[in-house]
Amino acid sequence: MATPKALLLAALCCACFFAAVLAARELSDDSAMVARHEQWMAQHGRLYKDDAEKARRFEVFKTNVKFIETFNAAGNRKFWLGVNQFADLTNDEFRATKTNKGFNPNAVKVPTGFRYANVSTDALPATVDWRTKGAVTPIKDQGQCGCCWAFSAVAAMEGIVKISTGKLISLSEQELVDCDVHGEDQGCNGGEMDDAFTFIIKNGGLTTESSYPYAAQDGQCKAGSNSAATIKGYEDVPANDEAALMKAVANQPVSVAVDGGDMTFQFYSGGVMTGSCGTDLDHGIAAIGYGTASDGTKYWLLKNSWGTTWGENGFLRMEKDISDKRGMCGLAMQPSYPTE
Ligand SMILES: *[C@@H]1O[C@H](CO)[C@@H](O)[C@H](O)[C@H]1NC(C)=O
Repeated sequence: MATPKALLLAALCCACFFAAVLAARELSDDSAMVARHEQWMAQHGRLYKDDAEKARRFEVFKTNVKFIETFNAAGNRKFWLGVNQFADLTNDEFRATKTNKGFNPNAVKVPTGFRYANVSTDALPATVDWRTKGAVTPIKDQGQCGCCWAFSAVAAMEGIVKISTGKLISLSEQELVDCDVHGEDQGCNGGEMDDAFTFIIKNGGLTTESSYPYAAQDGQCKAGSNSAATIKGYEDVPANDEAALMKAVANQPVSVAVDGGDMTFQFYSGGVMTGSCGTDLDHGIAAIGYGTASDGTKYWLLKNSWGTTWGENGFLRMEKDISDKRGMCGLAMQPSYPTE
């Protein structure tokens, strides 16, 4: 029979053995993570200036991957996150580069009409997806430039131009970035969709994407660009009224401002975004439809401008008709649309 001392030693050895196993597992976890980071870098063409930067980015990447995996493992949500192109950015860095610094959530709106006021909600289709009507251009990517406002305004304009002329024309965000420097609009430093619409009306329209391509940085305005399409005016959807927004979206794509700064927004990968979200409006996107998911959750369908590696191939669904009148992430606070 073993003496108590031998038992104690055996126990200690066991503890040592398990500690060693745990340490080894942690090391191999880390080396798996290193490999994952390398693979992710290759996938997204990411290069770091030196080893110190790479080591720092690795730590951020690891923290983000753990956040994403913990979120998804909880399994009690209607949406999930993914290790996308923003995985080596802290949430602060993400906010600084991807969202709109110039957004003024308290902007005083000049009263406009609302042409869909008398539309009956009962008469609206249960599902709308402007992509199926050919009124949505492919997903674009704003890159490292805070001009979501230009992408949001252009997406709504491309929609109404298609609906009224039958032609889907990809229009130039860069023309707005370079040439529209009035009101809140300051190129990569932010802007507002209504100011963009005002500029477009005064400018006599916008030229095409191909004749004034996107550069993802502020540049000199190339004046005299031939406009390919124009709008006559714009209207604001009554604020904090998802039923009013539904009437508008049933008739055309609509620009909306949201709070896009949360980590759940940064890494959104699919499903219907539900739950808590901020209402500090800092990102402009476009509502291009609505519908009901198979589990009965009603959603808005939105077009983002972060490439196709974010969200549902660049698109997003957010819960519709929530108890907070401001809507999910504040989407019902400042919607507007251009008119023909
Ligand atoms: C809605 O109906 C009211 C009452 O008939 C009318 O005064 C108003 O002009 C209508 N609004 C629109 C946008 O058609």
